[in-house]
Amino acid sequence: MRFGRRGRAIAATAVVGVLLLGACGDDDDDSGDSAASSNEFEFFSWWTGGGDSEGKEALLALFADQNPDVEIVDSAIAGGAGTNAQAELANRLLADNPPDSYQRHAGKELVADIEADEVEDLDSLYDDEGWRDVFPEQLLDLITSDGKLYSVPVNIHRSNVLWYNPAVLDEVGIAAPPTTWDEFLTQATTLEAAGKIPLTVGPTWTQQHLLENVLLGELGPDVYSGLWDVSTDWESAEVVDALDMFTEVLGHSNLDSAAADWQPAIDPLIEGDAAYNVMGDWADTYFRVEKELTWETDYGATTSPGTDGVFNFLSDTFTLPQDAPHRETAIEWLKLAGSKEGQDTFNPVKGSIPARIDGDASLYTDYLQVPFEDWTDPSTTIVGSLAHGVVADNAWKTEIDSALQEFVESGDAEGFAGAVKQAYEDTQN
Ligand code: GAL
Repeated sequence: MRFGRRGRAIAATAVVGVLLLGACGDDDDDSGDSAASSNEFEFFSWWTGGGDSEGKEALLALFADQNPDVEIVDSAIAGGAGTNAQAELANRLLADNPPDSYQRHAGKELVADIEADEVEDLDSLYDDEGWRDVFPEQLLDLITSDGKLYSVPVNIHRSNVLWYNPAVLDEVGIAAPPTTWDEFLTQATTLEAAGKIPLTVGPTWTQQHLLENVLLGELGPDVYSGLWDVSTDWESAEVVDALDMFTEVLGHSNLDSAAADWQPAIDPLIEGDAAYNVMGDWADTYFRVEKELTWETDYGATTSPGTDGVFNFLSDTFTLPQDAPHRETAIEWLKLAGSKEGQDTFNPVKGSIPARIDGDASLYTDYLQVPFEDWTDPSTTIVGSLAHGVVADNAWKTEIDSALQEFVESGDAEGFAGAVKQAYEDTQN
């Protein structure tokens, strides 16, 4: 049977395709399930819920238009940053039960799949579509292994964004968002005196998202980047100081009542109870599309403190799994995902910018105009995200995840630094 029980149950509620076929003797399906179809395309991601699903829906709708005979099965698993989807995917890959295409971040997150031979190389697709010149070289490097390309990037997201409610700042007399974390601490006192939550957080991955951007802001891009090949010593005084700053910052958050995911973590800003949230630029879609708010009037954003001129990036990519049940359809999907039309349909809705270098600038307005310009500005320094798969492989990141949970509880910066350094030794050597 191609789908695990759970996959089928989720899939059944999420068919967005246009044609449901009856039993058709699909030779790779031994379940006797009459809904199985040789024209199916199972698309696997963690894009559900406001802010995450709108871009996906726009792109799948275009795919459905172009492929009216295909029944799209949208197997999305809720949980921001793929927290639940990645676990489910691991089980499916282990059981040789892959979807037709699945989401992975560009960078170290993809490496385990390449090494385990879970994904086909896409060199001929890149050649046929003329894609080698339309994606930035440093992005292609992150999805290349032994000279072969292994996934198709659909976007570029920015991680180092400080979102805020301008009315809350006005109300307490704060003229502008902080440009350093020290300044944030000063503002936090003012905000707390007025009964406002200075900064909101959600589950552990959002705390890791905050951590990477506090480290980036405190250490600067070079020292930050050195953390990931340990040319920066995790146990050095400057890193431990930056980790202590993270603890101080968290002390001015709603950690005790942290939201279950990134969207509800943003809600107190929208309701006027909180001032700031550090989140990737998918939040733009939550404010603008899901909540129908107006950029600059109802919500604002700037680079997170200390990261002006730096672009902490990540990229969502899609794969062709080995033994994809509907390989030809999956290739059609990848062609759309990598095309200019696909990227300019998806990204303005997703709250991201195209991974391709030839996106139509006129479509990236309001909040998106800034990352669109910054990404290609030669004076911008580009670094990679920890929480979203760019800089640490899965083995090391799993260890960082659990060390972080302890650190958030204990505030023991030296203990955390030592644990992360040790985990690097254990997993990379
Ligand atoms: C990231 C992903 C984004 C967005 C976000 C929140 O990991 O790259 O596209 O979905 O998680 O779920």
